[in-house]
Amino acid sequence: MKLKPIVAAIATTVLASTSFAAEVEVLHWWTSGGEAKSVAELKKMMEAKGHKWKDFAVAGGGGDAAMTALKARVVAGNAPVAAQIKGPSIQEWAQQGVLADVSGAAGEWDKLLPKVVGDAMKYKGKYVAAPVNVHRVNWLWINQDALNKAGGKAPANFDEFFALADKFKAAGMVAIAHGGQPWQDATVFESVVLGVGGAKFFNDSLVKLDPKAIDSPTMLKSFDTLAKIKTYIDKDSAGRDWNLATAMVMNGKGGMQFMGDWAKGEFTSANKVAGKDYACVATPGTANAYTFNIDSFAMFKVKDAAVQKGQLDLATAIMSPEFQEVFNLNKGSIPVRSGMSDAKFDACAKKSIVDFNATAKSGGLVPSFAHGMAVPSATQGAIVDVIAKFMNSNMSSKDAVVALAKAAKTK
Ligand code: GAL
Repeated sequence: MKLKPIVAAIATTVLASTSFAAEVEVLHWWTSGGEAKSVAELKKMMEAKGHKWKDFAVAGGGGDAAMTALKARVVAGNAPVAAQIKGPSIQEWAQQGVLADVSGAAGEWDKLLPKVVGDAMKYKGKYVAAPVNVHRVNWLWINQDALNKAGGKAPANFDEFFALADKFKAAGMVAIAHGGQPWQDATVFESVVLGVGGAKFFNDSLVKLDPKAIDSPTMLKSFDTLAKIKTYIDKDSAGRDWNLATAMVMNGKGGMQFMGDWAKGEFTSANKVAGKDYACVATPGTANAYTFNIDSFAMFKVKDAAVQKGQLDLATAIMSPEFQEVFNLNKGSIPVRSGMSDAKFDACAKKSIVDFNATAKSGGLVPSFAHGMAVPSATQGAIVDVIAKFMNSNMSSKDAVVALAKAAKTK
């Protein structure tokens, strides 16, 4: 009888199953090149603390598919240990009684986070989520070479924007690289609303959902502008992933893209340099405004003490200066933790930091509607449906405003 190998095999199994402190399953939707590199840093840090990282990645920009998967798992009584959840959704999940208190990891967070951010991470005064970054959504990414050939001046308003788009079109390019997915449509739409109406109008219409602001000439003009944008998008855009649209801007097939600065994560991971290979500028008419999108991880209630410790370790890692730097360098965003050095960040990120601080004072800082920062998820979903329908049909601006007003009442 060959007992020895069996004993050895058992020994290895036992060893393997106890060789980590806890298995921490984390749901996220970071699967593009830049996103995957960013989340790998978190995995590395958790492994360094002795934990096993169980990746629960659900592809799909903007996270719609990930949120559907999350709901299914929670309903089945099998929630992950942590999940990428943000904005008002954190409160929605907390109200269901499924989120864990990780205040034990929070230490100085109240001092290190802007109050609005800290409040968004808390439920009844206890931290239930940890924030990783600040993304700016109102960015326009332009192929630098094509821009130089077209005179070198980035568009400051929509007149200049369309003039540039005409030049790109004449040069045989797809002037506006876009992916026809509802969340991307909404990403363009909110930047148009911001550029056409300004920060106060954005707040009134897309955050406060004020019926007067929604049913207004400014909203009509926003849809007219969006309709014009549609004419510069190629026929193959339906269903295209956002990072493929970014790749079009990179390789010169596309001229420019409306997208948050996770697009910079793609440029960075392809070794492209801001100012040389591409330009990052505020979307037309929004130089003095900033749509913020803060990613965060919420923790679900677990019974196992070792896993609870894993959650505290995860929260601590996320807010550590080391993680805030390396993650955001890869992700294209900026640290959410205050007091961080910007020395290693590139020109786009430095501009984002300056503009974030300036708009926080001026009133130009607004929560991104398209990225789950502004309104309850059901209302957001109903409004996004209207925008997507507008993008994919001949719906008139007038009808879109009527449909928007109705969708805004969704609870
Ligand atoms: C956003 C998210 C970003 C980025 C993007 C595309 O909603 O906040 O971190 O990943 O989706 O997937």
